[in-house]
Amino acid sequence: MSQLEIRSVSHWFGGLQALRDVTFSTSDEILGLIGPNGAGKTTLFNVISGFIVPTRGEVLLNGKAIHRLRADQTIRLGLARTFQIVKPFATLTVEENVLAGLGTPYYPKAEALYKIYRTRENLEKIEQMLEKVHLSEYRFSPAAKLPIGLQRRLEIARALATHPKVLLLDEPAAGLVAQEAEELADLIRDLHSQGIHIILIEHNMRFAMNLCQRIVVLAQGEIIAEGVPAEIQNNEKVINAYLGQE
Ligand SMILES: Nc1ncnc2c1ncn2[C@@H]1O[C@H](COP(=O)(O)OP(=O)(O)OP(=O)(O)O)[C@@H](O)[C@H]1O
Ligand SMILES: [Mg+2]
Repeated sequence: MSQLEIRSVSHWFGGLQALRDVTFSTSDEILGLIGPNGAGKTTLFNVISGFIVPTRGEVLLNGKAIHRLRADQTIRLGLARTFQIVKPFATLTVEENVLAGLGTPYYPKAEALYKIYRTRENLEKIEQMLEKVHLSEYRFSPAAKLPIGLQRRLEIARALATHPKVLLLDEPAAGLVAQEAEELADLIRDLHSQGIHIILIEHNMRFAMNLCQRIVVLAQGEIIAEGVPAEIQNNEKVINAYLGQE
């Protein structure tokens, strides 16, 4: 099982310190990362997944430093993510979106997605991914036409196509109705039971508390609490951080 270690990570955007000496490690669990708006959650995901090189500190995946690697390099090591604002390739179909995630070395032209890479083997893999996220019936629909709940599933399918060991989900339940959120929670549990280590950012407290085995709370760039959901729910610092936001 993969282990991810965040060691003394600090990050500044000019004069603004978005992360302050963040240290924690995680393995074989569904870990929740919560905190008020602007706490630095997405910035931390950007650091872990290679979109930002932190000003200070390091990130290790199975003992290997990854904080200076580019996003495409961290993906090859088994680290995949989804985005807070869904970013499917809008004009491509659901199938083509997943095809793009399969990690072919390069795309000589856009048509490569339609012809060269549409091999039987790839199409079978896509079928499996779409089944996993229950999107098979939308295979040939343009991604932009899907409602938000299904676009979030598509993002997960595209991330799964890279065969991640660690999957980072940035607010996967945002915009979902209760029923969709429940289905998503089942899907995430399913992925975890298949050996994928999950870290998810969430604003929906009930969703995070029901799903996550452990929770790390960030406020103003700093970890203010860490523990099992029941501990976090009653933690005074956490309650104050959220009240301060109202
Ligand atoms: N590229 C950037 N340039 C400058 N400041 C940034 C940049 N990205 C984020 N910030 C700032 O860093 C801080 C942390 O932002 P971040 O997006 O990580 O918060 P968050 O916890 O994900 O918030 P939310 O819950 O609203 O998504 C905020 O003050 C934000 O304005
Ligand atoms: Mg965010």
